[in-house]
Amino acid sequence: MNSKKTVLITGGAGFIGSHVIRRFIKNYPDYLIVNADKLTYAGNLENLSDIDKNKNYRFERVDIVDKIAVSGLFQKYSFDGIVHLAAESHVDRSITGPDEFVFTNIIGTVNLLNAALNSWQKIFEGKLFYHISTDEVFGSLGREGMFTEKTAYDPKSPYSASKASSDHLVRAYNHTFGIPAVISNCSNNYGPNQFPEKLIPLAINNIRNNKPVPVYGKGENIRDWLYVEDHAAAIDLIFHRGKQGETYNIGGNNEWKNIDLIKLLCKIMDRKLGRNPGDSEKLITYVKDRPGHDLRYAIDSSKLQKEMGWKPIPDFEEGLEKTVEWYLANEKWLENVISGDYEKYYDSMYSGR
Ligand code: NAD
Ligand code: DAU
Repeated sequence: MNSKKTVLITGGAGFIGSHVIRRFIKNYPDYLIVNADKLTYAGNLENLSDIDKNKNYRFERVDIVDKIAVSGLFQKYSFDGIVHLAAESHVDRSITGPDEFVFTNIIGTVNLLNAALNSWQKIFEGKLFYHISTDEVFGSLGREGMFTEKTAYDPKSPYSASKASSDHLVRAYNHTFGIPAVISNCSNNYGPNQFPEKLIPLAINNIRNNKPVPVYGKGENIRDWLYVEDHAAAIDLIFHRGKQGETYNIGGNNEWKNIDLIKLLCKIMDRKLGRNPGDSEKLITYVKDRPGHDLRYAIDSSKLQKEMGWKPIPDFEEGLEKTVEWYLANEKWLENVISGDYEKYYDSMYSGR
């Protein structure tokens, strides 16, 4: 890939997207980075306030479901690469309202694929469509085993089914039309700027406010946690060195039962807030389980590690501590994102649970 490129990053105002944009802006000053985002409840331009004046950054408010808006974007810029992160991303919301997941995650992806195909006109040299996906497309593991790139798809929630569908479409466009594409499937991310509907920031916010910390079912479900900047580093590597047509799994090799994770978080919060050891744990409240709750995810990322030398950096406790420190130092960010509709969302999701 040459040094001057125009790169479209979709969903750049969201959690992972904002870390990817920051990394690309800093690492590739010769690139023009275009962030296209609808700014849903999860999109927040404050996430990018430190870099948004940069010469090599542009923001475009675009709904990827809007075909005309997407084609207008591709007429305005001549993209060499696309890193597609825009999505509806919260499993619980996909259970209470699946339609939006079908629109954004499936139709939105097709609109981008069609626009790229049309814009590139079969001259694919130096072009790449990079689709960011999730380990949830593989379904749920029992106590043993890990997801590899060869694991068969078996999505179980409307969210994961919509992501699986978009992965299939990206592969089909690669196979049928020859569009150069790569896909990565990543495990659970955590870190600064995550919207507090997801487990870790929701628990941090509740502990900070002395509110109950809802743990679904018995808290025995297992997730493989990865620090968000490690995911951004993997995306950077795959965008530049991934082989088109390939898939790469990304994971933290860091499995935690939800209840053990929450207890560790409580311990860190007690320390950071100057509370007595054990105070925050008293907030743990077991609530009705998520319907169809996947038991366990675990990613084998040896392909990425071997081919590109990637590895996750902070150990989990260190990463969690950094995350807690960020939320406590950025209370204004947190207050801003939980003003507005958050309370309504919280009540509809958790009251009576
Ligand atoms: P997020 O919900 O924090 O951000 C999503 C972003 O997409 C927001 O800025 C939102 O405004 C934007 N968006 C939503 N609908 C849009 C539309 N119709 N048009 C344009 N923009 C739209 O999500 P995230 O956690 O940062 O996840 C980013 C991507 O990574 C998603 O594709 C998700 O499936 C994938 N992923 C997430 C995780 C995780 O743990 N969070 C793990 C693996 C993969
Ligand atoms: O695995 C990757 C996926 O990880 C991403 O594709 C998704 O976008 C991302 O949201 C995440 O999905 P999960 O459903 O695993 O994340 P969530 O933070 O919602 O939940 C993590 C675990 O914690 C899960 O087992 C459900 C449980 N949970 C969650 C919440 C919000 C609770 O026990 N209580 C809660 O209040």
